[in-house]
Amino acid sequence: KSGRLVLIVGPMYSGKTSELLSYVEIYHLGKKNYKAFKPSIDNRYDETFIVSHNNTRVKAYPIKEPKEIFKILEGNEKAVFIDEIQFISEELKDIILNLIDKGIDVFCSGLDLSFKNNIFPTTSILMGYADEVIKKKAVCHECGEYTGTISYKTIENGGEIDIGGFDKYIAVCRDCYKKLNEKQ
Ligand code: ADP
Ligand code: TMP
Ligand code: MG
Ligand code: ZN
Repeated sequence: KSGRLVLIVGPMYSGKTSELLSYVEIYHLGKKNYKAFKPSIDNRYDETFIVSHNNTRVKAYPIKEPKEIFKILEGNEKAVFIDEIQFISEELKDIILNLIDKGIDVFCSGLDLSFKNNIFPTTSILMGYADEVIKKKAVCHECGEYTGTISYKTIENGGEIDIGGFDKYIAVCRDCYKKLNEKQ
């Protein structure tokens, strides 16, 4: 039986990592083997843990390239979890399709859009292949409504790949995003 691909996307602080970790717990409670991965570029809290903004965490293998996943898997896993997929190369798609083919469930989370309102290609591609896409929202930092769909960068530094948290980014709704960009 094929595995399934579940994708969790949205802006920063929308609960993507928390939701990914809640799926980890389901496999953990079921005493099923699984492994979790994250790009090694994301050293925000710890190299070897997936950590949410409310500080829940799970052990994860840091990877530089998608094919490292094959080397690390032992063959008895029922599920694979990957956080911050926007930082992993597009080849991740081939690895994931192979895992699903072997009957392994794959749960991924990541940003759909950069603070510049550009798509992250790996996330977009995987959204196409996913059996289920869960689009999360954040509370807009400006108006307080639960309509935050995009991240806004609060510091003067255009880098589209730039690890950080509240020191650099907020989550906002479309209208507040427009207003903030017009102010500049
Ligand atoms: P993500 O991986 O999408 O950045 P996390 O799962 O790490 O999200 O963190 C989600 C948590 O962040 C929420 O449960 C909440 O406690 C906190 N949080 C901080 N700012 C916001 C916000 N603007 N909207 C929603 N949650 C927020
Ligand atoms: P988060 O979605 O779990 O909050 O983490 C997103 C990470 O991506 C965080 O380290 C900041 C980084 N980031 C970028 O590199 N570019 C961007 O455009 C945005 C919005 C976030
Ligand atoms: Mg996260
Ligand atoms: Zn708003």
